[in-house]
Amino acid sequence: MAYPEQFLDEIRTRVPLAALIGRTVKLTRRGREYTGLCPFHNEKSPSFTVNEDKGFYHCFGCQEHGSLFDWVMKTQGLEFPEAVERLAADAGIPIPARDPRESQERDERGRLYAALEEAAKWFAAQLESQRVGAAARAYVEQRGLDAPTVAKFQLGFAPDSRSALKQAMLARNVTEATLVETGLVIKPEDGGDTFDRFRDRLMFPIWDMRGRVVAFGGRALGDAHAKYLNSPETSLFHKGSLLYNWPGARAAAHEAGTVIVAEGYMDVIALCRSGFSHSVAPLGTAVTEQQLAELWRMAPEPLICLDGDKAGFQAALRAAHKALPFLQPGHSLRFALLGQGEDPDSLVRKGKVAELRAALDKALPLAEVLWRDLSSGDFSTPERRAGLRKNAGELVSEIREPTVREYYRRYFREQLETAFPSGRQQEPFRPRGPDQRSGQRGPMRRGLRFPPAFEPKLPAHAGLGGSSDGTSHRRERILIAVLLRFPAVLGAVAETRAGLNFTDPDLDSLYGRIIEIASGTSFLDGETLRAQLMGTGADAVVSSLTGLLDVSQLKDVAEAETLWRDVVALHRTAESRAAAQAVLAGEPGTQG
Ligand code: UTP
Ligand code: MN
Repeated sequence: MAYPEQFLDEIRTRVPLAALIGRTVKLTRRGREYTGLCPFHNEKSPSFTVNEDKGFYHCFGCQEHGSLFDWVMKTQGLEFPEAVERLAADAGIPIPARDPRESQERDERGRLYAALEEAAKWFAAQLESQRVGAAARAYVEQRGLDAPTVAKFQLGFAPDSRSALKQAMLARNVTEATLVETGLVIKPEDGGDTFDRFRDRLMFPIWDMRGRVVAFGGRALGDAHAKYLNSPETSLFHKGSLLYNWPGARAAAHEAGTVIVAEGYMDVIALCRSGFSHSVAPLGTAVTEQQLAELWRMAPEPLICLDGDKAGFQAALRAAHKALPFLQPGHSLRFALLGQGEDPDSLVRKGKVAELRAALDKALPLAEVLWRDLSSGDFSTPERRAGLRKNAGELVSEIREPTVREYYRRYFREQLETAFPSGRQQEPFRPRGPDQRSGQRGPMRRGLRFPPAFEPKLPAHAGLGGSSDGTSHRRERILIAVLLRFPAVLGAVAETRAGLNFTDPDLDSLYGRIIEIASGTSFLDGETLRAQLMGTGADAVVSSLTGLLDVSQLKDVAEAETLWRDVVALHRTAESRAAAQAVLAGEPGTQG
């Protein structure tokens, strides 16, 4: 064949067969295979199968059978070279010149692979070496990596020297040019001496899908300027189309039925050590389109695992947006958000594997991540609600696959309907006058109006309307307890929060702290919030509120929101009544 095998291989790797065939044939996933109606003969029940792993399609009805290239040749009537070039162009793979230099090229690539493998061995030996590797071994130990892990991930050490690697490789007959081409050695532009790229770093070899070392990531042992340094793009290493631990994760992903995408090398290693060998990481960049395609070849719903902080949520959003155009029936992404500032490695180090597992189990669907982002904010005016609906519509229109698009449309419509019901129960829109307490929204929503002296009889919190100190305190405790269980309420009730007073100083400072934590976190669950409050001096108050009866019965955020609104309304009514009574009694009034 006139094309280098490596090039054909790259096409096979980068063009998912099922996706290609799926453009024209409606395929359904059955275990490891896809099935559909055969395009080569007329049939009513599907006997056409696509096997992604083996890279061929086969029809049990008419015996049509072939590879990726056969498919393009047959369905588009092309000759082999045209099919190859069309696929390469689609996948953005440069087409190599077809000439006798081909075998020379193959030799050249072989030399690069060999040099990288040689370097990996040398780095590993440095880590083991008595004197040179001592500090790195201490670091490895401090990070809790045992010998089998070091061996499995071929970890190594690049000594603090400008040319130790270069000299060692030259002595093994690797040329300087090869070292420069692999990115192991840097050639200064001013023509000065070449020097080692990685110095004084713990080395993580990066393999391609077939398990060949193609690059390295190097971690500084201390707080160096760049914590991680990666190999540059080379002819063997395209960071946007590789995944760390790819060869290891592929088989495991089939077993597990999913694949976990973590942020860093150390996270992948920690996950693997905790039994999640189906874990990969992008290589220091956000997940690319190409990586998404590869992930979907491994599992229908890759699980993206991120920090529970703002940056983590932003990263989740970026990945969600990137995935939208490519969503397919049954294939999507899910997002596991860990506690603030935690990554899989830190959790495993603290022995919190159960917490990690729980976060993975609780992963959010892509649709929900988008909705949480869309719907965070203040939608108290019709224009803002209209804006929200428009934004949701724009997201939906990015989905190319019509069935998925339709279901997303429905999902957002339902969410909007739940958030802002359009039925008869709907609260009439009224401009908020100066004396119109927004806190009345709770009872108003039920279509009832209460003269100030009456109290609504609401089952969950009957008897809470009084203005005595005791009842007032009880209301305040309930409000905080609601937040401790469902901090998400804060986002939804923004308008009732204005001017809310807590007379109990402990509750007041706790409230302040909750607001502070919540505003630094895109979404926060009760458990995480309570964990973050621990040790801040609020422990006693927090635990005294956690079991509060009215609150422990709450089923979900919606109920929590209703309770919050109602209690705030009662609180405000009681406050104004107390103020009125104070005026009548000729005492100095309390501010409402
Ligand atoms: P993080 O900053 O989240 O680090 O980077 P980490 O994985 O928790 O690393 P440790 O635990 O401090 O060792 C995540 C990934 O981003 C890339 C690396 O691929 C890293 O694994 N990165 C990070 C860089 O490429 N350069 C950097 O300076 C930092
Ligand atoms: Mn980390």
